[in-house]
Amino acid sequence: MKGIQIVSTGKALPEEIITNDDLSRIVDTSDEWITTRTGIKKRYRCRQENTTSLAVNAARNAVKQADINTDDIGAVIVATSTAENAFPSTAAIVQKELGLSENVLAFDLSSACTGFLHALNVGHALLNSTDYKYILLIGSEQMSKIIDYTDRSTCVLFGDGAGAVLIKADDNMYEQINYTRGNEDVLVCKGLGAQDAYVQMNGNAVFRFAVDVLKQGIDEILKKSDMTIADIDYIVCHQANERIINHVKKKYPGHEDKFYVNIAEYGNTSAASIPIALDELAEKGCLNKGRKLILAGFGAGLSWSCALIET
Ligand code: UT7
Repeated sequence: MKGIQIVSTGKALPEEIITNDDLSRIVDTSDEWITTRTGIKKRYRCRQENTTSLAVNAARNAVKQADINTDDIGAVIVATSTAENAFPSTAAIVQKELGLSENVLAFDLSSACTGFLHALNVGHALLNSTDYKYILLIGSEQMSKIIDYTDRSTCVLFGDGAGAVLIKADDNMYEQINYTRGNEDVLVCKGLGAQDAYVQMNGNAVFRFAVDVLKQGIDEILKKSDMTIADIDYIVCHQANERIINHVKKKYPGHEDKFYVNIAEYGNTSAASIPIALDELAEKGCLNKGRKLILAGFGAGLSWSCALIET
């Protein structure tokens, strides 16, 4: 089996920025509470934009960075829980807007905050089972449309945005593990037709779950890859709460700096958080050939997934 090479990355964010102080004028909260409990300072919120336009722009930015013939893109997978339509898929609109070949497999994948990791796993499987040269993976979310802005325990956490990663097959390392534990109690957002279709969450339970499965996932992927944390350059966890990442960091003394954290800037952008972080790492020149990364996603499902990839 071949591994995955990241060819290029991109991201897209709405124009409007919502600060913690802005939220304190809507609900009974404060910059101090949000900063100390979550690490979040601001987040982006759609006005003109939506999940589809963010996905299109992130994808366009990724493709612009790559010197490729777009007819060679064999699949487009959009991980999202906030698609505009039940159908057509967001991915179908990306095909049209980017002028991609009609000979493309394009579909949305719904797996909440673990969605980008699941798209990566499907992308890897497709690269190893088809003649697709490139696959476009996108995480795009307009979380603001499924947030109850009277619920201070959730509305301060989430942000809108999109990230895109163009991948191809390569002779390098790739391992991935996936877990799913059916649970509708601690983290749920009801779907089409529901009256209260907003994020509802038992924050404490999700926090404990996240710390446990991140540690378990990182240890398991290291073992499966026959590596130790010392072999890894960056660990990109889903950005849900800086305190979650801090708890996990502490379990790997001496390697804390490998954990990438950008939640202050974006809040929790669900399926978009990992590809946005990858785009930032690429912009900083951190994804040169031979770097080893662990990507770790978790969220509603409950589900969690860890991948070890080599750039
Ligand atoms: O993408 C995956 C999905 N989500 C997550 O990963 C989230 C995981 N959980 C968390 O990040 C944290 O549990 C939260 C940030 C959601 C909450 O932090 P916490 O430290 O667990 O606070 P808490 O829920 O235990 O609440 C402590 C207090 C409560 O007040 P009382 O009962 O002690 O008087 C809450 O009502 O903080 C209150 N509170 C707030 N106060 C000011 C809850 N939200 C807010 C708020 N501003 N925004």
